Formats: sequence, structure tokens, C-alpha cells
Amino acid sequence: SGSTLLLWAAIAYIIGSIPFGLILARVMGLGNLRDIGSGNIGATNVLRTGSKKAAILTLLLDAGKGAFVVLLARKFAAFDAAQVAAFFVMLGHCFPVWLKFRGGKGVATFLGLLYALAWPVGIAACLTWLATAAAFRYSSLAALVAAVSTMVWAIVLGVPSIFILCSFLTALIFWRHAGNIRRLFAGEESKIGQKSS
Ligand code: G3P
Repeated sequence: SGSTLLLWAAIAYIIGSIPFGLILARVMGLGNLRDIGSGNIGATNVLRTGSKKAAILTLLLDAGKGAFVVLLARKFAAFDAAQVAAFFVMLGHCFPVWLKFRGGKGVATFLGLLYALAWPVGIAACLTWLATAAAFRYSSLAALVAAVSTMVWAIVLGVPSIFILCSFLTALIFWRHAGNIRRLFAGEESKIGQKSS
């Protein structure tokens, strides 16, 4: 029902809005992410602090919160509620009310929630990210290619029911990467692990 969907939207938004990268960087004494690299709260920027461990933890926790909330919705509600949860966990991550709506770019969370919604699509999107990152060394470019690929994988791997969700989340990812896209075209984007941005 409508109120069930609203409840899942609220739960997902709140869980999505936990800024693991920001918290980890602070707790591990790596500094304020806002003053480092791109200023983003995601794993790519945590890596610019020099801590691989913190970056991997951020990746796992940001992906984990996406997977967790969708698995929860799948366990206790219908597939449409899981899709609503997927959308709102991304909104929570990208626009957390606690950070005056200045959140992350949603890449890890997208991969995590995809894994929970339709694991073959999640795996295919991860592999697409890895292949693009290996070829070009830009985290942002890998994210953009992987995001677009989700729409292809949803169809090819037989999960057309998530196509519309994937298209909305891909649009959100592109929007959140506006600065990265500008830097890529200007030849100014930093490569993975590079300190400056
Ligand atoms: O996950 C975000 C990544 O695609 C770009 O991060 O810090 O280079 O803007 P960043």
C-alpha cells in the first residue's frame, strides 16, 4: 500500500544518509574529506587520503547500506517496495539532510543495491566498473560507464522490471558527476589513487 511504500522510503533514506566515508576519515584521523581531493565523501576520495584500508571500508559500507536496505525490503515487503527502497537509499546517500544535502555521488551504493535487487546485474555492473577503471584509471568514468551499463544488463540478463529504476539512478549518477564530467573533458580529472584533483 501507499503507506508501506512511504515507510520503506523513509527507512531507506535514513540508512542511505549515513556518510560512512566522512565518519571513517574523521575517526581514523585522516582529516576532513571536504578539504581533500574532490571534497567528496566517497571511497575514491577517501583513497586520496592515502589510506587504502579506509577506502575499502568506505566502499564496503556504502555498498553495504544499499544492499542491506533492499534485502530488508525484499524480506518484509514486495519487489516494488524494494525498488522504492533502492531509489531512496540513493537519495539519502546523495542528499543527506544532516549534511545540508551535500552528500556523495552514489556509485558504491548503486552497486550494492543492484546486487541485492538482481545479483547478476550487480556483478555485471561491478565488472563493467572494474574493466573501465583498469583501462582508463578514472573512477568517475568507470562509474558513468557502469551506470549506463546497468540498463543494458537489466535487459540482457532478463530483469526488465528494474530498467526504469536503473535509468533514473543512472541519470542521478550523471547529475552528481557533473564536475567530474567537466574535468574529464578538460583533461583535468585525477586518476585513481592520485592525490590532487
Ligand atoms: O564514486 C565517486 C567517483 O565516481 C568519483 O569520485 O572523488 O573523484 O569525485 P571523485
